[in-house]
Amino acid sequence: MLELGAGELSAVRRLLVDIDLTDDCSLDRFRSAMGTPPAARIWLFVVARSDARHRTQTQANALFASRNILRSEAEPLLLGLMSLAARRPLNSTRIAALRAAPGGESVHAAGEELATLFDSFSEARPFSLQTVSAVGAKIIGGVAETGAGNWLDTVRGHHEGTFQHCLLVAGVAAAYAARHLRGTRMATRLTDAALLHDIGKAQVPMHVLDKPGRLDESEMDLIRTHPRAAVDYLAGTPGIEPEVLDAVLHHHEALDGSGYPDGIAGSRVTPLTRILTVCDIFAALVERRAYKPPLSDEDAIAILVDKALDGKVDYIRVRSLADVFGMTLPATLDEVRANMEQVGVA
Ligand SMILES: [Fe+2]
Ligand SMILES: [Fe+2]
Repeated sequence: MLELGAGELSAVRRLLVDIDLTDDCSLDRFRSAMGTPPAARIWLFVVARSDARHRTQTQANALFASRNILRSEAEPLLLGLMSLAARRPLNSTRIAALRAAPGGESVHAAGEELATLFDSFSEARPFSLQTVSAVGAKIIGGVAETGAGNWLDTVRGHHEGTFQHCLLVAGVAAAYAARHLRGTRMATRLTDAALLHDIGKAQVPMHVLDKPGRLDESEMDLIRTHPRAAVDYLAGTPGIEPEVLDAVLHHHEALDGSGYPDGIAGSRVTPLTRILTVCDIFAALVERRAYKPPLSDEDAIAILVDKALDGKVDYIRVRSLADVFGMTLPATLDEVRANMEQVGVA
């Protein structure tokens, strides 16, 4: 860093500084290298001891550090930073193309808000719940105007990876809300929860999130941390509703108790969570990945029906989602089973 001039530093978005804040000599060298005020936004590491963190916070504040962290805690935080928050999704040319696409304005607004949310999570900064809800309302408007299929095509054409997934979940949830929950409190809760549900993935390293094929057990353990991490962060947000926190925490639960993080079952899985889970799974199935084409809406719904038959997801919510995409399913699971027996599938 000492070789970098102020001009170069000012172009740096984030700077990690490994420094012992208890050492005056290091501090002096650092101050003279950075200038006053510092030329770049910085993060500081405090070397080693936890009793130094509190003592050195004043020093960190004086140096305009956005965060003061322990070296022993640095690795997972850095891995997280190298994941979603470090990824600027689109350059200006691609943003212009996105905004001109069907539903593009609301896809763009949702992408910007997601980037802000991942940044806020990674830096343990608060975010505006009102803005999240306003973006959710915009997505509902965009989906209603252009049609869910077109809106999701625009997302698939312009975004990748976990960003694409989160936007698809938001779009599917908004389409569900526009069709079945319009004007209700539940609609806002659903779009809020959809935008926020995977925010905890900001702490999961990119090579795990983007790994093609099966994850090993240690990688799955990392993935399984994301709902709880999200809620730990979101719980302090003024105005956030318990229903939304519950849906974020439990969106990977299954009705038979085989999900995570708590293994809850049956009526303990709330209606909002049931809807979010179905939207989440559908979105994951219709994602476009470098190594696999998206499933059709029909195939994704067929897989959800199979999951309902296995007792994992709520069939009534699957049926409502199918209706959003122009498919009419039998009224009950018993009818589904009877139809399957008729054609000799069961
Ligand atoms: Fe998730
Ligand atoms: Fe998800």
